[in-house]
Amino acid sequence: MTAISTQDGKYSEETKLMKGRVALVTGASRGIGAATAKLLAYHGATVGVNYYNNYEAAQSIVEEIEVSDGKAIAVQADVTDEAQVQKMVQRISEAFGQIDTLVLSANKTFTIAPFINYQWSDFEEKLVGELQGVFYPCKAIVPSMIEDKRGCIIAISSGLSRYPSEGFIAHSTAKSGLDAFIKNLALELGPLGIRVNAIAPGLTLTEATMFLPEEYRENTAQATPLRRNAMPEDIAGAILMLASNEAKFVTGVYLPVSGGIQML
Ligand SMILES: NC(=O)c1ccc[n+]([C@@H]2O[C@H](COP(=O)([O-])OP(=O)(O)OC[C@H]3O[C@@H](n4cnc5c(N)ncnc54)[C@H](OP(=O)(O)O)[C@@H]3O)[C@@H](O)[C@H]2O)c1
Repeated sequence: MTAISTQDGKYSEETKLMKGRVALVTGASRGIGAATAKLLAYHGATVGVNYYNNYEAAQSIVEEIEVSDGKAIAVQADVTDEAQVQKMVQRISEAFGQIDTLVLSANKTFTIAPFINYQWSDFEEKLVGELQGVFYPCKAIVPSMIEDKRGCIIAISSGLSRYPSEGFIAHSTAKSGLDAFIKNLALELGPLGIRVNAIAPGLTLTEATMFLPEEYRENTAQATPLRRNAMPEDIAGAILMLASNEAKFVTGVYLPVSGGIQML
């Protein structure tokens, strides 16, 4: 499986970290989700590649995985729609078996604006959509994880949930809600053998951040101890670390993956 572009081939078949695992990655047609789907597959997981609009992009991730002897399927679902999420989970379980690893990376877009210009309807849409995007997939998958007495859930939060930034009031508030949700799940599901963690990326170069001026990205890189912006693969690496059994005593964590620009 050396053709997948996420790693340098240093893992042998025996040392692959996700062998025998079945993962669903939401928002996996692009960005952080796509890099994660490829890395988990590289490490031996079979992967459900969730997308919303972008079938071609999701299918190209599946093909990249298959070319490298991995197994994956692209599954369309709007994560803010409970019925679509249920159908997606059923389809992946029928194809590959019960999902034991859930990565929540679908990106709920939002308006960047100061509070004074924000309308409640836009604010509410971000808050509700962000939380539906974690609530519905968890609701659909946690029961089978409880039955199996094992499972791992990783949600993508943001450094902005703890460090506010001008114009990001809706995003920051929504991700803070996600953080609280994840901590509560970790508390409730720990005794049932399920680990639940959050990753908090700093600025990561994906389509979601391409609108930012070059100067802003460069200034952020210079303010970052590791002196660059994150790539999706940097976030995927941390997700793999938390998903793997090597992190078997780690739950309820909020892990910044920011090159050091956000330290707790
Ligand atoms: N990029 C950053 O700097 C950064 C920093 C901190 C946190 N994050 C968080 O990281 C996560 C991933 O962000 P990203 O930058 O990788 O985003 P991205 O490159 O814009 O990709 C977004 C992904 O989400 C999918 N998606 C959007 N709405 C969806 C829905 N309703 N149902 C299912 N899938 C949906 C898209 O599917 P289609 O392609 O089919 O539309 C796409 O696969 C988000 O939660 C984001 O808030 C990102």
